Amino acid sequence: MIEVTFILNGRLVKIQTEPNITLLDLLREELRITSVKRGCETGECGACTVLLDDKPVNSCLILAPMIDGRRILTVEGLTKDRELHPLQESFIEEFALQCGYCTPGMLLTSKALLDLNPSPTIEEIKEALSGNLCRCGAYQQIINAILRASEKLRRRLNYKP
Ligand code: FES
Ligand code: FES
Repeated sequence: MIEVTFILNGRLVKIQTEPNITLLDLLREELRITSVKRGCETGECGACTVLLDDKPVNSCLILAPMIDGRRILTVEGLTKDRELHPLQESFIEEFALQCGYCTPGMLLTSKALLDLNPSPTIEEIKEALSGNLCRCGAYQQIINAILRASEKLRRRLNYKP
């Protein structure tokens, strides 16, 4: 067993775990963070995406020792004071989900994109989402939701491109 210390959604976590457990299993099975979805487990689908130090990663490909001393964000950490993140609001407003299995990964990948690029083009959104698959084919609505969220965030920040 090893001890891993990291920040999960703004809170310090110290946990004893197996050195070969994946971040996906650590989050879902040991910490009960069930927004992180298990899909292919081979880095193909993006359902297990989390942000590691603000960058999207496939948690099925990361081992627990690799997150020691680092920051993890999941969808549970997107909501602030019970208020939805503009991306969450926009996904609802644009009906950007059907079964919802890909949604946590889509939200986190989109957050990383908008944090770096508040005014992305459709091509830039497609490129950013290229590692996240939606088996329901809701891609057009997802792109619309990201464009809507980008507008909301820019208004909030009074951002002029
Ligand atoms: S479950 Fe990790 S990429 Fe598919
Ligand atoms: S909404 Fe079903 S997988 Fe995307």
